Amino acid sequence: MSEFTQPDSEFAGGIIGSRSDHQSAPFALTEELASVYRMHPLMPDHFTFKSASTGSVLTKEELSGVCGRNIARLAARMSLADLLYSLGVSHPGVITLHNYPGHLQRLRTGPSEPIDLAAIDIFRDRERGVPRYNEFRRLINKEPVKSFDELTDNRAWRKQLRTVYGDELGKVDLMTGLFAEPPPPGFSFSETAFRIMFLMHARWLKSDRFFTDDFRPETYTEFGIEHVVSTGLFESPSPEGEGFCAPRRLKPTKARRAR
Ligand code: HEM
Repeated sequence: MSEFTQPDSEFAGGIIGSRSDHQSAPFALTEELASVYRMHPLMPDHFTFKSASTGSVLTKEELSGVCGRNIARLAARMSLADLLYSLGVSHPGVITLHNYPGHLQRLRTGPSEPIDLAAIDIFRDRERGVPRYNEFRRLINKEPVKSFDELTDNRAWRKQLRTVYGDELGKVDLMTGLFAEPPPPGFSFSETAFRIMFLMHARWLKSDRFFTDDFRPETYTEFGIEHVVSTGLFESPSPEGEGFCAPRRLKPTKARRAR
């Protein structure tokens, strides 16, 4: 055990560096997590790649240009530092209704017709018997919403949801509800999703030896571990080559919705 590995559990100092524990189900993630983690709006439709040393724009790409076989082509055109810097300083999309990336709604996964991943996200939950939004809330001991007005503060969405679901609140799909629900102040996603994420991420980290037993200089190097401990995991190198940029805020990637 190194000086970074805590002698006892996460209760004293958090999960990072504590002992790993699979909690009787090694590497198992629950179906609820897969459902609330369908956060495809995080993917922007457009990417801008910049020089890590000057911050100047090198190239702009659509989402399809940074996926699959196009990754190798893109990587050959710029340095790894430029690639990492560009992704580090770009904004992910807001997880909300009407912000689903167009490219994923006509996604090519093979030689056949493109798929509509937004429809598949909804379909998979129905196919797997994942409860609809309000029932899901009930099952995690969260008060179900009593009306479309309570579901979302967006007037246009209330009308759309009523039309799509024939005025039946109980039919609103989980993902639709999660994207309609206004997140608490400072949150990137709904509190309903957060409850599952909070529980499962703790178990997820606790199962991962790189965050627990092997969170030590022998694995990460002295520099690596000092950097993580002193600056946090989610900061990116600045273009000036010194210091680190703050994590990027989520941004709407589609035109702003009408209220
Ligand atoms: C270019 C980016 C992405 C592409 C092309 C992509 C594509 C896909 C595809 C094809 C599926 C399987 C759909 C099916 O069930 O048939 C899927 C599932 C899923 N994706 Fe993505 N995805 C992307 C980004 C993301 C991101 C950013 C997240 C979350 C942060 C995410 C979370 C998930 C989850 C949770 C599932 C369900 C997995 C399961 O059913 O076990 N994806 N995605």
